[in-house]
Amino acid sequence: MPRWEDRFAARTREEVGAGLGSILALSTATDLISFSGGFPDPATFPGPVLAEILGNLIDAGDASAMQYAPTPGLPGPRAFIAARLERLEGRRPEEQELLVTSGAIEALELLSKTFLDPGDLVLVEGPTYLGAIMAFRSFQADVECLPIDHDGLDPDALERRLAAGRVPKLLYTIPDHQNPAGVTLSAERRRVLVELSRRHGFLLVEDVAYRELGFAGARLPSLWSLAPDTVVQIGTFSKTFFPGVRLGWGAGPAKVVAKLVLAKQNTDQCAGALGQRLLEEYGRRGLLEEQNARAVSLYGRRCSLLVDALEAHMPDGVAWTRPRGGFFCWLTLPDGVDAAKLSETAMAEGVAFVPGAPFFPDGRGRNNLRLAFSRIDDELIPQGVRRLAPLIARAAKEAEQR
Ligand SMILES: Cc1ncc(COP(=O)(O)O)c(C=O)c1O
Repeated sequence: MPRWEDRFAARTREEVGAGLGSILALSTATDLISFSGGFPDPATFPGPVLAEILGNLIDAGDASAMQYAPTPGLPGPRAFIAARLERLEGRRPEEQELLVTSGAIEALELLSKTFLDPGDLVLVEGPTYLGAIMAFRSFQADVECLPIDHDGLDPDALERRLAAGRVPKLLYTIPDHQNPAGVTLSAERRRVLVELSRRHGFLLVEDVAYRELGFAGARLPSLWSLAPDTVVQIGTFSKTFFPGVRLGWGAGPAKVVAKLVLAKQNTDQCAGALGQRLLEEYGRRGLLEEQNARAVSLYGRRCSLLVDALEAHMPDGVAWTRPRGGFFCWLTLPDGVDAAKLSETAMAEGVAFVPGAPFFPDGRGRNNLRLAFSRIDDELIPQGVRRLAPLIARAAKEAEQR
């Protein structure tokens, strides 16, 4: 038998981490109180109306739903998404500025394929979405992170990094209710970021996966609405419709989108037409808004339960973010506590979370962890925190004695 591992392409031999796979694997465990995967709650998914819409498509003999679709997306769903962006962002993408993708993760793959040569610099937030680190690394980019605080990415750190030379090809940011930290980029910083991207000539990639899941208050302007000349917005319907449909979008400068369309021709050629038509029909009935309102109220309630439980039970020396939307809360444990080790102990005690290090490209985050509150029953939230708190207290004491 040949040793297949000797024959894999050189670019696949670099360590990209078990990352997403291990989180997805955890998600199937049933005997755990799980704060792990960033999954939407199935209670938010569309109900029987989807069967009705599907029935209508079939009765109407709508072949477009079953056929291959044009690479940038079917005309109807594209028009629907463009109008939706106009309503949400105050700007409608031109015909050549929009692409329908098979989820946001595909948009990341297409951007990487289009922009990254081996050794190119990509700047990300530290911590950031693990799938993005994996996508950039799989094209052999140098991925470096910039610090964030409660107002998102620190623009002073970015300015210092830029002043040190070597312009990044891409800067990837999740401005709203970030994964994994749950923080939101302030309005002032949004303006600074787009200004820096214009001045230095790098593409800003804005991932708006959780943008529509704000619990209170108005949405801040998206980076794409502020600077459509220098920003690509990537979005997903995984959190607002359902992930099984694998649909998202990219909106950005026409020249960039044209290249993404080319790149898509030899990944999957087109996003699934059936999903596109279901989304369009569902959306045109105003059902995405209804679903989103239910989802926001569910996740907002769970977030409050989590933050209240943390306040009630966590030992001194533990800090956490206070999300105003999204799925995630980010904890900083006392120095010297190893969250990966803690995760093993916690699993044995029946509670799961994701340790922080994989969310950084450089091994930081050992004393961080992410709690997802999106798919955990309300009553399990305080119970899970009560299980976790003494384990953290014990690990902190042991770290102190070392
Ligand atoms: C920030 C962020 N971007 C993108 C994705 C992936 O989205 P999709 O399901 O559309 O591929 C996720 C999913 O967890 C995410 O958290």
